[in-house]
Amino acid sequence: MSLKIANISLSDFRSWHRLELGFDSDLILIVGRNATGKTNILEAIQMMTSLVSFKHPTLSQLIGRDASSASVRATAVGDSRSLDMRLDLKPGQRAYFLNGKKKSPSDMRGLVPSVCFAPDHLEFSKGSSQVKRAALDDLGSQISQSYQNVKRDYDKLIQNKNRLLKEESFSSSLLDSIDEMLVNCGAQLMFYRINLFSNLMRYAQVNYERISDGREVLAATYRYSWDRSGDSAVAREYPVSIGDADISRNELREMMAARLSSTRQSEIQRKRSLIGPHADEIRLFLDGSDVSDFASQGQQRSVVLAWKIAEVDQMEATFGNQPLLLLDDVMSELDGPRRRALLEFVDRGLQIFITATQRDYFDPELLGKATVIELPIGGETAQ
Ligand SMILES: Nc1ncnc2c1ncn2[C@@H]1O[C@H](COP(=O)(O)OP(=O)(O)OP(=O)(O)O)[C@@H](O)[C@H]1O
Ligand SMILES: [Mg+2]
Repeated sequence: MSLKIANISLSDFRSWHRLELGFDSDLILIVGRNATGKTNILEAIQMMTSLVSFKHPTLSQLIGRDASSASVRATAVGDSRSLDMRLDLKPGQRAYFLNGKKKSPSDMRGLVPSVCFAPDHLEFSKGSSQVKRAALDDLGSQISQSYQNVKRDYDKLIQNKNRLLKEESFSSSLLDSIDEMLVNCGAQLMFYRINLFSNLMRYAQVNYERISDGREVLAATYRYSWDRSGDSAVAREYPVSIGDADISRNELREMMAARLSSTRQSEIQRKRSLIGPHADEIRLFLDGSDVSDFASQGQQRSVVLAWKIAEVDQMEATFGNQPLLLLDDVMSELDGPRRRALLEFVDRGLQIFITATQRDYFDPELLGKATVIELPIGGETAQ
């Protein structure tokens, strides 16, 4: 069994000066007009559980406009225990507490994992490689502290390198030393990402088959920056080429070092960094056709759904706990069968939080099982 959130209280978190909510079922519907603070509640739960927000705000943006600090408290219950979780926020500073004791984010990671699905994520299947890389790296960072650290270090190095390449003149030994660090960090990032992608695709493929009644096969390619196809490559089977899923870190290091050195002149001429995982290509295919170019709207939605459900599968496999599912305003974007595919999670025992502007998206049977929170609630309105 996994931990579920029994109650949450917010102080000066975004638009909420004070809010206390209790949840006595596994399905929580938060219903209210636009700008009543629904997404803010989901974001607070995500910050508390996944330690990130799908909106990628600065910490100051999370603090109420007229306040200097914010806090989120939640009680998680299950496995015959009850945990008091707290997150305190100040500009540029956050602190997590578990049963009153200060904890680092890595201590909190995975305790109560969560998967968030918001309308922006619907862009994923037709989005560029950049969107897909970001989705993978976001998930990897939620799952592993090392993934998060490597990604952060790699991004800093790329920024430094691009800054250097834009200068009128610079010493090649400085570029050598950045490239050396980049190779270590980049190979590590590729290694983590390829492994995660390969696992995730295995789940996504099964999920897609279920959602689409086995009509099409979902496949994917992952190509290194030095190997990008540029054309509409055809991929018929899975695994097609998720990089090389069993490649070693050393091999990746050697490949990247060799490519960096053979591409150095082009990088100098074009004044930007061309080689490394920030430029790797990720593509998805249905029966061999690129999803972003050929799939119908409905097929694209099903791919996103298969991917999101795969995130849930991956979290369960990694942490041995079922994640919370946070569905922000996606019900209106999905048709009946796809909505039902998501709501099947109720039967799988997950706790699900759903925001919507109307109750109509839910049938009466489901409403009967749910804790329904209507905003604004007596006296407790968003500012
Ligand atoms: N730091 C902050 N301080 C005060 N108010 C904020 C802060 N950040 C966001 N808000 C406000 O919170 C309000 C509610 O936002 P939220 O996104 O939660 O609404 P919502 O109910 O999800 O609306 P929609 O149905 O349109 O998605 C917005 O009007 C926004 O301006
Ligand atoms: Mg919203």
